[in-house]
Amino acid sequence: MTNSKNTSISELKNEVGQEVTLAGWLYKSRSSGKVQFLIIRDGTGLCQCIVEKANVPDELFEKLKRLGQESSLTVTGTVRADARSVGGCELAVTNAKIISPAENYPITPKSHGTDFLLKHRHLHLRSQRQWCIGRIRHTVIDAARRFFNDNGYILIDTPIFTTIVGEDQESLFEVDYFGTPLHLTQTGQLYLESAAMSFGKVYCFGPTFRAEKSKTRRHLTEFWMVEPEVAFIDLPGLLELAENFVSFIAAQVLQNNRSELETLDRDIAALEKITPPFYRLTYTDVVDILTGQKAGDFLAGQLQELQNQRRQIETKIAELETEQKGRIKQWKKDKIAAELIELRTALAEADTKIENNPKHARLAAEFQWGKDLGGSDETIISQMHDKPVFITHYPKGAKAFYMKTDRENDKVVLNFDLLAPAGFGEIIGGSVREDDHDLLLAKIRAQGLNPETYDWYLDLRKYGSVPHGGFGLGVERTVAWLTAEKHIRQCIAFPRLMDKVYI
Ligand code: 4AD
Ligand code: MG
Repeated sequence: MTNSKNTSISELKNEVGQEVTLAGWLYKSRSSGKVQFLIIRDGTGLCQCIVEKANVPDELFEKLKRLGQESSLTVTGTVRADARSVGGCELAVTNAKIISPAENYPITPKSHGTDFLLKHRHLHLRSQRQWCIGRIRHTVIDAARRFFNDNGYILIDTPIFTTIVGEDQESLFEVDYFGTPLHLTQTGQLYLESAAMSFGKVYCFGPTFRAEKSKTRRHLTEFWMVEPEVAFIDLPGLLELAENFVSFIAAQVLQNNRSELETLDRDIAALEKITPPFYRLTYTDVVDILTGQKAGDFLAGQLQELQNQRRQIETKIAELETEQKGRIKQWKKDKIAAELIELRTALAEADTKIENNPKHARLAAEFQWGKDLGGSDETIISQMHDKPVFITHYPKGAKAFYMKTDRENDKVVLNFDLLAPAGFGEIIGGSVREDDHDLLLAKIRAQGLNPETYDWYLDLRKYGSVPHGGFGLGVERTVAWLTAEKHIRQCIAFPRLMDKVYI
């Protein structure tokens, strides 16, 4: 152990044939008589470490055999290239040192319920899935910053305690600020607009808060948003910026996280399609699609597909149940048990989708121009596309007060939502901002907001007002899409949900 080099699992490919020491945790182990297979994780990856009885002292061999999941240890051995191995290399162990043994680690390879895992989030973060998602989230955030930093944007940190309503009054978190009621920010946008008049191109990146009473897979009460704001930009300019931005993020994830995407079973070819231009629809086009033949046919096809899927899942469950009853090793039994839990969850999900399909079809068919798009309407449009799709020009009444009225059609505003494809839905909301003082004041009043609070915001329209706009990209929703994770709660380390804050 003395001369071996300390290294990390991600570096092993450069150390083939060398003796090295890894420091990490025991992720999984299995033993077959004279050989033990220890899967070690060290934060940078997983490595299979092979302990042959003949190569280590007997006492150590026995200790390792009894070592519990998530015990911390160092292992020394020779690096061997092995294409079948998780990280492309394995370690032929010659020595090991236990740092801190763990017993009865609560999260076992058997499946656990969501509630249990969220309560154990401090430990669940060590799981492969959470590890892969966390690393992809890191890339998304790094790429977002890099994109703006490299394109002449100045970072402005906007406040978290605010006096203004940024988006809507229903979803404000109030705080008692030394006796004065303030609220937690819903968006940095309004402050950013003032900064754009100083720096031209700016962005902010921070946590945002919405007391939204929705328990959907798309909503958190605390989420991270990156928002650019640009002076002298129009709607086509904003769409172009957004598609370049999102394409850059996807490309960075493909470049840096291919193995994580593979582990997560993400359809990589679908991500490789994420290049400009994205699809462009107006809200009115969307209403035509929803209420017309196209969406109806699409949903009918989907229903058939879901029923097929359901039958396949049922067959697989029956097969595994039979296999489970046979004489098989314990580890195999555990594996089947875990698979069954997943399959039963998938079955329940398919059932829900089958049940919802006609409801969603009816909602779509009855959709009326003027309403904001509902979650299911958005999902349908998103599912009908293989690349992100912009929806522009929403009705004035359905959107926030600050959006600029289209001068060519005063029923709509110059805004857009960007929907990620394949059913993931909205990841960006943005708009050109109302730059006319009197129109903006009228909108503030019409929405029942107190104009006095917006004095400073209105000032921006008095002193050198210019056309300007921007957008906000939700980090968790973007990560959920890129990782094909169903629920955005898995896309932030410590999620805050409407009905529960776990740890
Ligand atoms: O569409 P939103 O509400 O837009 C704004 O806040 C604008 N002021 C941004 C701007 O123009 N500067 O939110 C932007 C994005 C959404 O598209 C979504 O990705 C995310 O923020 N988002 C949420 N993510 C998780 N949980 C929630 N409750 C979210 N609400 C919005
Ligand atoms: Mg929105």
